[in-house]
Order: sequence, then structure tokens, then C-alpha cells
Amino acid sequence: MCAFHIIDLGAMQILDSRGRPTLSVTLTLAGGATGWAGVPSGASTGTKEAVELRDGDTTRYDGAGVTRAAARITGSIFHRLKGRPWHSLADVDQALIELDGTSDKSRLGGNATVGVSMATARAVASSHGQQLWEFLSPYTVRPRMPVPHFNLVSGGLHASNQLDFQEFMIAPIGAPSMAEAVRAGAEIYAVLRRNLAAAGHPTGQGDDGGLAPDFTRPREVLAALVQAIDDAGYVPARDQVAIALDPAASRFRRSDGDYQVAGERLSGLELIELYAELADDYPIWSIEDGLAEDDLEGWRRLTDRLGERLQLVGDDVFVTNPSLIGRGIAGEIANAALIKVNQVGTVTETLQAMELCRKHGYARMVSHRSGETVDDFIAELAVASGCGQIKAGAPARGERVIKYNRLLHIASQRPDLPYGLADGGGR
Ligand code: PGA
Ligand code: ZN
Repeated sequence: MCAFHIIDLGAMQILDSRGRPTLSVTLTLAGGATGWAGVPSGASTGTKEAVELRDGDTTRYDGAGVTRAAARITGSIFHRLKGRPWHSLADVDQALIELDGTSDKSRLGGNATVGVSMATARAVASSHGQQLWEFLSPYTVRPRMPVPHFNLVSGGLHASNQLDFQEFMIAPIGAPSMAEAVRAGAEIYAVLRRNLAAAGHPTGQGDDGGLAPDFTRPREVLAALVQAIDDAGYVPARDQVAIALDPAASRFRRSDGDYQVAGERLSGLELIELYAELADDYPIWSIEDGLAEDDLEGWRRLTDRLGERLQLVGDDVFVTNPSLIGRGIAGEIANAALIKVNQVGTVTETLQAMELCRKHGYARMVSHRSGETVDDFIAELAVASGCGQIKAGAPARGERVIKYNRLLHIASQRPDLPYGLADGGGR
């Protein structure tokens, strides 16, 4: 890669899809190439994620402003990045890591570093005349179109209903192409909405566009999903239209170490058995954050009990952090990792996390956050990494569909890219 010079770096506070402040970052290279990034933000966050720098001034945006993070970007970060040649995105990210100097990006803010990193990737790709996914793709993998995991029903922190599990997704694993996968997702979503309305449920949406019916028990949702898949003319099966769950169990862990689901207190073992029964009765292929991030013993048991049958994805427990993923691999916890760029705070560390997973046979699912912008970076990352899986919310709401629409564009430009899970079902 030939050297590039960063000649301008802008940052400002904009709103995310929940109406909370987030960062917009624009970076310009000598020669004129530019890159933009909109920084995503989670609600159901892991405790070891890169720290978002927020203003804390409660008279404005209830303390959630990001003007200090924007000032870090245009101040100390730009000062470090300007006036010298850079040879790679990895070098820029390394400079951000060193300038920050903390293990959790708390000095500069993970929101600031990830915005600069994403904007740099875009600008450098553009200066090479490459699509972002082409630029991001490591030599070790073959790019592919990922199976979209559409969140159709929301609960937990993302909706105001009584459901403890946070996400109930459908994955058109057996679709012949990206376009047909998107069609399946949208058609099943429409049928589900109609069925729920007919049964008297409210059809308002959760934060990522999933419907938020008045169910309390996971089985009620799973039955409604299977019905909607069937009514829409698709086959509810693990190799056709499969179901994936993100219970986000850290959110319903009790202080005594048990879990609280649908009004019942369950031990970790009982919760694992509940998952086993649900996977017997419904075409579930993947469960993310089935247990809480600090319940490592439970995670080990879950992996022992269900790791051969199901994809078990670590989100809060790994937070896209290569050292935490390394600990999980050594401890035989989970068999897949959720991948969110803002959890670790740079694109390079995200790519390292994915490579570590790939080397050890762990699957990867690229993910949005519940607070999003119209940035479609994750669509590019999912294709680039060849991981074969993405979750970007419901097939509805602008900030969600922009990711799926970008995948449709890439697929139409590059019909040679295969669609579907990576070899071995991603595991
Ligand atoms: P978040 O949730 O973006 O609100 O953290 C997403 C998830 O738990 O996967
Ligand atoms: Zn999650």
C-alpha cells in the first residue's frame, strides 16, 4: 500500500436512531479522497466494551452529548494524524490506540476512535478506487454474501413489553441468493405484523425495528414466528428459514446468580435445559448470549451441552475483544463471536478479532447496534470478512434497511460472490 496523508479531519454531534447524540466523522486525504462515518451506540452493552466518551452535562441531552468526543477528534487526534505519511489503516489505528493509552479507549473515547478508524478505512479505499468491502477483505478469506439475521420480535432493553429475551431473529439460510433472502425477511415480517395485529397485539416497533407484541413467554414468540414463516410460503427449518435468538441473558440475571424468565426463577442449568427444549421444538440454529457475561462456568456448561447442535454466539462475554475471545477459546466457551466495531473501538482490532475466530474454528456474526445511523459500514465488513452472517435489525426502518440494501447492491454488482453461511455452517 502506498503512503497516504490525512489533511483534514472533521467531527460533529448528530442524532442516532433513538434520538441520542452520536458522532459524524469526515476525513480527507491529500489527493481529495474523503471518508465518512456515523458512529453506532448500544443499549444492552457488555461491561468490558470500549467506553463511549459522553459529555455528562445533564442540562443538555441528559448528559449524553458527544461534543467532548468531537473535540478530541478535531484536537488531539487530528494533531497526531496530520503532517506525516501513513502506510496502512493498521498504522493509523495503532496510533489511535497509543494516543489513547488506556485498555478501554476511555481517554479519547471508543466512539471517537471508531469513528476516525471507519472514516479512514473509507477514505483509503476510495483513494485506491476500491469498494470498502474489497479494501477491508484480508488475503486469507474469500468474500461472500452473508445470511441476514432479521430481528422480527424485540424484548428486553429494546422494547417496553414483558419479554425477557431481547431478540427473536429469522435467518433465510436456505435462500438461493441475497435478493431472495431479503425478500423472505421482508415478506415474513409483513405476515407476522398482520398476524399479530389480527390477534390484537400492538404492532409498534422496538429500537431495531423488531415488533413488540404483548407476549411474555419465549414459546409464544417462537410459535408466532413459525406460523408467519409458514403463512408467508417458506419452510421453517434449520436449513431453510431458521430461527436465531439473542436472549441477552446479562439483562435478566438475578443478583443471586439465577435467571428470571417469564416470571420464573431458573438456575443456569435450568435455563440451559430450556434452550435445549426450545431447540427441540423449534428450528433454532443459533443462540447469542444465552448466559450472562460473568457466568463463565455456565457458559462452559452451555457449550458442553449444546455446542455440537447449535451456534453459541458470545456478545457481552467477548465484546469483539481479541484477548477476551482468546480467553473464551482457551476455556472452550461458545463457538462463535458477535462482531461490533464500536465494542473494541478500531477497525483493525475488529479484523484481528475476526481472524482469531476464523483460525480457531469460531464462527462470526457481524452486528449493528440498537442505536444506529445511516452508515452501512457493517454490510461492507460482513462481505469483506467472508464470515457469512450479519444481523442488522428488522427489514424495516431506514437505519436498518440501509445495511440490507447495501448488501443487495453489492450482490447485484458481484453476482459471482457466493451467498450463505461460511463452510461448516460457519462453525
Ligand atoms: P445493543 O444490543 O446494540 O443495544 O447493545 C445488541 C445486542 O445485544 O446484540
Ligand atoms: Zn447481543
